[in-house]
Amino acid sequence: MQELAGKHIVLGLSGGIACYKSAELTRRLQDAGASVQVVMSEAATHFITPVTMQALSGKPVYTSQWDARMDNNMAHIDLTRGAAAILIAPASADLIAKLAHGQCDDLLTTLCLARDCALVVAPAMNRQMWAHPATQRNIAQLRADGIHVLGPAAGDQACGEVGLGRMLEPHDLVESMIDFFQPKPLRGQQVLVTAGPTFEAIDPVRGITNLSSGKMGYAIARAAREAGAEVILVSGPTALAAPMGVTRIDVRSARDMQAAVMAQVPTAQIFIAVAAVADWRIANPSTSKLKKEGGGGAPALEFVQNPDILATVAALPNRPYCVGFAAETDNLDANAQSKRQRKNVPLLVGNIAQDALGADDNALILYDDAGVTTLERADKQTLARQLIAAIVVRLQGAGQ
Ligand code: C5P
Repeated sequence: MQELAGKHIVLGLSGGIACYKSAELTRRLQDAGASVQVVMSEAATHFITPVTMQALSGKPVYTSQWDARMDNNMAHIDLTRGAAAILIAPASADLIAKLAHGQCDDLLTTLCLARDCALVVAPAMNRQMWAHPATQRNIAQLRADGIHVLGPAAGDQACGEVGLGRMLEPHDLVESMIDFFQPKPLRGQQVLVTAGPTFEAIDPVRGITNLSSGKMGYAIARAAREAGAEVILVSGPTALAAPMGVTRIDVRSARDMQAAVMAQVPTAQIFIAVAAVADWRIANPSTSKLKKEGGGGAPALEFVQNPDILATVAALPNRPYCVGFAAETDNLDANAQSKRQRKNVPLLVGNIAQDALGADDNALILYDDAGVTTLERADKQTLARQLIAAIVVRLQGAGQ
């Protein structure tokens, strides 16, 4: 996916050991479709060479405002014209202090002052430098000036200390930039998503579950966050990492999932039930491992029905806007329509189970009062964005 296609990004490096990550960042930004122009402070050139950054970006690297390569000698202005954003990664404590005061004593800081595009900074420094009141004052000033701050993350630091101050990883920075450019129609809204399968215990080491990778639900959680929402993802067991900036609550059984959803739903405006919830659980799971020795044959398992989380939420007096999913092997239209009626949800999303399970792409069919809309086959992240856009249109149409 080339989510940054057509975007020109000026990547600024200031002095810090995290400069080693900027090489990878350049590549990942390009993978996402961006063109990258690198500008480095003098200090940054002590950590990584302009030659490396030039080879990766495919463009001459600028390090000095006295660089005579620009015909009009206006590198401090021309380099950001046509850019979608300046991203400074790493942004050192010194650079942040300069930006907070409008100081411009080198090319990078002058570019920032003379820019007509967005400015995004990814701080990277020792934890004490980050926690220092002066740095915190400067960061608050940057935010007040409309500069976007990404991170920092916590963890091991090059100095051997552990704490807050690590630059975000290149992958997270690219995801943050994709986020940054997406429209934010759900700003101020809380979106609650269920995803993955549930697991119902037979005994402490065995259970029954549904086939579900969780990919669609996780993609929807990410798309909702990109749209500006605060996102809570209630997830059954999956192998997936939580999307950045999403609060994940891990659960195992359908009843755990229901409890987590009911605790979160009072503050949610939108509820999207993507989880493949087990319809039944074992009536009396054994507290010790069932043994096959003893000649008793296979155990007889008694099932009871699990609560329907979506139908329960949809029946609440102050219910959020509810979206359900139906994965069907046959008769998708008829099954999806009847599921929408039975669960009483305004929007039901149908897909063919055989096509969807574990795959990276899918096709979705949306059923609501207005009729049937098809979202053509695409990767799940693209579909998730289209679904969030479709939900926004419906909410706006309903005057919410
Ligand atoms: O009834 P069925 O499982 O096919 O319905 C699917 C939809 O209902 C999905 O949105 C799923 O997340 C939700 N569901 C639920 N609780 C259940 C069963 C399904 O929330 N116990």
